[in-house]
Amino acid sequence: METILVVDDEQGMRELLTVLLEHQGYRVLSASDGEQALELIAHQSPDLVISDVRMPKLDGIGLLTGIRKTYPHLPVIMVTAYASMDSTIQAMRLGAHDYITKPFRIDEIRLVVEKALVKVRQPDDRACRPAAMEEAQPAGLIGRSPKMVELYKLITRIAELDSTVLITGESGTGKELVARTIHCASPRSARPFLAINCGAIPEQLLESELFGHVRGSFTGAVSHKAGLFEVANRGTVLLDEIGEMSAVLQVKLLRFLQGRTFRRVGGTEDLEVDVRLIAATNKNLMKAMADSTFREDLFYRLNVIPIHLPPLRERTEDIPLLANRLLAQCTLRQRRGPASIAPEAMEILVRYHWPGNVRELENVIERAVALETTDQLTPAGISVQVRTASEDEGQPRPWTLTLPTQGIHLEDAVAQIEKDLMLQALERSGWVQSKAAELLNLTFRAFRYKVKKYGISRAR
Ligand SMILES: Nc1ncnc2c1ncn2[C@@H]1O[C@H](COP(=O)(O)OP(=O)(O)OP(=O)(O)O)[C@@H](O)[C@H]1O
Ligand SMILES: [Mg+2]
Repeated sequence: METILVVDDEQGMRELLTVLLEHQGYRVLSASDGEQALELIAHQSPDLVISDVRMPKLDGIGLLTGIRKTYPHLPVIMVTAYASMDSTIQAMRLGAHDYITKPFRIDEIRLVVEKALVKVRQPDDRACRPAAMEEAQPAGLIGRSPKMVELYKLITRIAELDSTVLITGESGTGKELVARTIHCASPRSARPFLAINCGAIPEQLLESELFGHVRGSFTGAVSHKAGLFEVANRGTVLLDEIGEMSAVLQVKLLRFLQGRTFRRVGGTEDLEVDVRLIAATNKNLMKAMADSTFREDLFYRLNVIPIHLPPLRERTEDIPLLANRLLAQCTLRQRRGPASIAPEAMEILVRYHWPGNVRELENVIERAVALETTDQLTPAGISVQVRTASEDEGQPRPWTLTLPTQGIHLEDAVAQIEKDLMLQALERSGWVQSKAAELLNLTFRAFRYKVKKYGISRAR
């Protein structure tokens, strides 16, 4: 029997839908807000969700966003109160399967539900299947640079496998998005995708989050709890910031990877699950292994399929495309903002070195959208810090310097460089001071002054 989850804050509406759908032969669960709905989805795996838009706590749009992240193939039908185009469009854009406007007719509900469930029974999986991905870039990932195209091909090839993947790359390069895309393109896509940040949770809690615990296994463990691996059975788990995992947990994870079995914290039973593991980190694990903070045996277990995401500055040709798409997404979300990016502003964006990668670009666009009052995103909307850094990067630099780890005496260092370059200019111009001054773009007077200051003379 197929299970339908009805989410609405109005009890009357929940009851109406429950009676109606039960009469059609479905099992019906109900929740009064988005948070409760997510709980139920995690534990009861319904086949379809019907949700109201306006609700306390987590509303329908929030719920839809949450579902799309973790259960990409779970169909959601939104019930919008008025035929409001805005929220309907937004819901469809965010991946709602269909929508019904209140007040609805009983046969309308029946039809929409039946249509959605037919799709679940025979998944129209073209959008997510590897074959289709070769032609089109996967939903979510933006970029057409050779490096990104390589990445799409790699995702296509590996999506069907169960092998562990290790994604590395600087912060904001899209590690989590790539993990999600792999899951979505895999045969596991109808099952959960669950991500956990290993760096953000204390060791003992992380263990119980991953493996679950039995009642009374530690203070605060008041009831049994299924871990992430159990909840994600037949799905995918992303272990984010794996480089931050403690030594003790590294051993436990290794044991799990070797046998695919584990025990809940405080438990005695060996449990078996089928999850695909993806790990991600912006840390240099080679260095962590050299420092003995990351286990080598675990590294090799995780690094079966390595994926390295290039920083944005190594694929600047993607910046205009990304900026335009992010702008469109942002104006849609905020329902306001400029329609396009002025060429001068785009130049700044392309030239900047983006240490925070795509996430930083997203933030810059979002800020500009909030500030811009005209219908074009102009340089004025871009933060001064990005603008000036971008200008500096526009100047050709003859060399780069690295600040020594112990620091430096800046004035002495600059004097040293100045003196050194003057000597080179003098050598090159056969000690004709006017020529040397020219090479350094200095007036003769300024040059003479510095010669005296540094006590430069030919007989060294
Ligand atoms: N190629 C891309 N196309 C579109 N959006 C992208 C791309 N790469 C990253 N993003 C977006 O940039 C933001 C950061 O991506 P994500 O969280 O996946 O990065 P991350 O590598 O996990 O970063 P961190 O190391 O900081 O956790 C997200 O909002 C994501 O949707
Ligand atoms: Mg991340």
